[in-house]
Formats: sequence, C-alpha cells, structure tokens
Amino acid sequence: MAEKTLWSGGRLESDLDISMARLNQSLDVDKRMAQEDVRGSLAWARAIQAAGILSESEFGLIRSGLEQIAQEFADGSFSYEPSDEDIHTAVERRLTALIGPTGGKLHTGRSRNDQVVTDFRLWLKSASAELSERLTDLQQAFLERARTDLDVIISGYTHFQQAQPILLSHWWLSHFWALERDQQRLTDTIRRMDFLPLGSGALAGTAYPVDRFSLANELGFSAPTPNSLDSVSDRDFACDFLYWAAMLGSHLSRCAEALILYSTTEFGYITLADAFSTGSSLMPQKKNPDSLELIRGKSGGLAGRLCAFLATLKGLPSAYDKDLQEDKALVFEAADVAGLVMSVMSGVLRTLTVHPDRCRQQINMQALATDIADYLVKKGLPFRDAHHAVGKAVKLAEKKGIGLAEISLPDWREISPLFEADVYETFSLEAAISQRCSWGGTSRDQVLKQLAFAENTLKTTA
Ligand code: ARG
Repeated sequence: MAEKTLWSGGRLESDLDISMARLNQSLDVDKRMAQEDVRGSLAWARAIQAAGILSESEFGLIRSGLEQIAQEFADGSFSYEPSDEDIHTAVERRLTALIGPTGGKLHTGRSRNDQVVTDFRLWLKSASAELSERLTDLQQAFLERARTDLDVIISGYTHFQQAQPILLSHWWLSHFWALERDQQRLTDTIRRMDFLPLGSGALAGTAYPVDRFSLANELGFSAPTPNSLDSVSDRDFACDFLYWAAMLGSHLSRCAEALILYSTTEFGYITLADAFSTGSSLMPQKKNPDSLELIRGKSGGLAGRLCAFLATLKGLPSAYDKDLQEDKALVFEAADVAGLVMSVMSGVLRTLTVHPDRCRQQINMQALATDIADYLVKKGLPFRDAHHAVGKAVKLAEKKGIGLAEISLPDWREISPLFEADVYETFSLEAAISQRCSWGGTSRDQVLKQLAFAENTLKTTA
C-alpha cells in the first residue's frame, strides 16, 4: 500500500509506504491552524506581489481563492483529501483546484519551514491572549474569596503541621500572587513570540525582494526575525509556553491538594458545590472532589509535555528537522488543558462553602507558642531563651494532658519568672494575627492593604 504525495513524480520515484504516510501526516493536529495558514498565505501573496512576482490579477485570483477557503473552514464545508499531509498542503491543493495553475505560484520564495512556524506563532499568540484573560478571571475568583472570607481564621501550616494562625484571605491571596507570576510569564512568552519568521525560506532566506518588515506589520508581529536559520529552528516560544503551562499546573495542583484536604471530614473547613463533585457508583454517602483531583492530576501531563518537547529538541542539528512536527500536539494539548483547569478552578472557588467555626475549632492553641515566646522577648529575654522556655511549657502541657492556655500561673512562673498574669491575653487568635502587621503579614490591616494592591495589580495588567 502506498500514498501519493506533493512531490510524487519529482525527485522521489515511489510513493510513500502507508505506515510512513501515517507517521508523516500531521493534518489531524495542525488543522487547528487552518485560519492562520490562510491568513499567512494571503499576506505572503501580497508580499510577493509587491516584490513583482505576482501580477495584480494573479494576486486578485489568489486572494479570492484564499477567501473562499477561509469561508469553507469557517462554515465547516472544507473537504480534506486522504493525500493531504498537513494543513499547508491541504490549503495549497484546494487553492489550485479553485483557481487553477496560478495557485502554484503562491509558494514562490516560501518554504513550509517558515510557513509552519509562522502559522504556529500566529495561533499561539492568539491562544495565549485568550488564556491570559482566563487567568485574569481565575485571579479574580481568588480575590473574591479573599474579600468574602476576610474574617475567617484558619491554621497556617508548615510541613503540614499546624504552625501559626492566619486569615483565610491571606491564604487565598498567596495563590493569587503565584498566578500573578504566571500572568507575567505569559506576557513575556507572548512578547518573545511576537517576531515573524515568514520570509526566511527553507533556511537561508528568500531569493525574492520581499519586504519582511511590512509583512510583519501586516500579520501583527512586532518585527521580522533577524536570522533565517534561527527562524526555522527556533521553538523556544513553544518551550516558554509549555513551561508556563507546567508552572500554572503546579500552582493549581498545590492549591487543589490543600483544598482536597480541607474538604475532608477530618478537616471540614470547606464543602465543594455538587456541580464540582461526583458521587461513587458503590458508596451512596460519597461526595468526591474530582474537580480538584483532576486539576492535580492534569498537572503531571502539563509538566510532562515540557519534558517531552525539551527532549525532542535537544539533539536537533540543523535548522528544520521533521522532529519539530511534534511541537504542535504538545502545545495544543497544553493550551486546552490549561484553559480547562483554570475554568474549573474558578468554578470551584466561586461555589464552595467555607465553615468559619470549624476552621477556628480545629486550631490547636499550641499554634500560639511563637506568640508566647514573643511575649517573653518583649519582656527582655533573648529569643533563643524564650523559644526554649516555651518549649518547656509545651512539654509540660503535653505531660499533664492540657492545653497551653490551661497551664497555671505558678507553673508558668516556674518556667520563667518573667511570666505574669497577662500571659493569658496571649491566648487569642485575633491577637496573634494582629501581631503580624508588617508589610506582607497576615494582620487584618495588612491583608486589606494586600487586597487593594492585588486588585490594583489586576487592573493594571488586565
Ligand atoms: N507538517 C510540518 C510540521 O508540522 C510542516 C513543515 C514541513 N517541512 C518540511 N520540510 N517537511 O512541522
């Protein structure tokens, strides 16, 4: 079994083996760039007309053919042939079928090597802009939570052991800032992607006097790329994007992991809405946080696609190698997954219920141990000694099976004579929180400032 190709009857005598044709074809993946291919081709036709390769009427013919093809893609009537290897060959075949041999002039001075990477950059620029909007909406959802849950106190954790009390808003905002860095990374990624490779030819540049600057301008790029070889080999922008997606996945996964724990019977801090939970086929009582588990699960694939593509790239010797064809499936999938997990996370956040009393009840007053140490520091004891003294108190409480707040004053004073009756005032979650009042801390005033800063940041970047 063999298959006809673009170049059959030229340099190569026999047709492709069917398994080779299947391995070689990328149409199933790159048909997503159909509109970009037409757009790039139209701009190229205009550029070679300006360079004197196409006459006015040939350009008009090509333009009307391409416009019809764009329409066919838009209304779904474009019909692919089994011999279409990729979207570029499909468009060229259709163009020639529509307008005759003039269609064959479009590819003058152009190679699929500069064409494919132009389409890809066009596609990814616009996909990234949409993803950036979705990311802004997700950041907004975190801000809404931070506003709503301003007076909720939860335990903060390190090593996932209770550490110090914090405002739940502070916790929500911690995720907002991680996403803000993702937003900045995406902006940088778009900025670096914004250079036009078209006009680089196969590798050495095009042999026709094409004005690549006006071509860049027409296709909405900031400038043409400065080196034809680099233009057709460079997929850094795809790696940048995959890294962005991997990092976003990792941020959302960490947040999801905590929320899964917070939604368990043991924690009980939050309840997810039914719309973002699933039941069990066997156990009638089950309500599972599948939304968050899938967000966590998908992050593995997001990291994996970056590794996969870096591994593909690392051994490539020359400008274009067919290995590069692997780039699009990875990037398209990453874009789809990133968009979906962001939407689901926004929905989870906007519909979950917080249980403030439960959050509070679960705090072990030992979480105020640092505050008792600070109490001694304020009375003049060096912090190291204070730390040691409170450690003794914790041990004593544990031995007696009581909480720190139940230690009697004589016992406190035995540990350190600096303890006085006012030590009991330290056993207040609100007091502990209000102590953390320097910039970036969890005190209510600081969290309000942080919220205003976050809202402002979102306004200026959105
Ligand atoms: N389908 C190819 C890709 O996605 C297009 C470029 C083919 N270039 C070539 N010289 N065979 O990378």
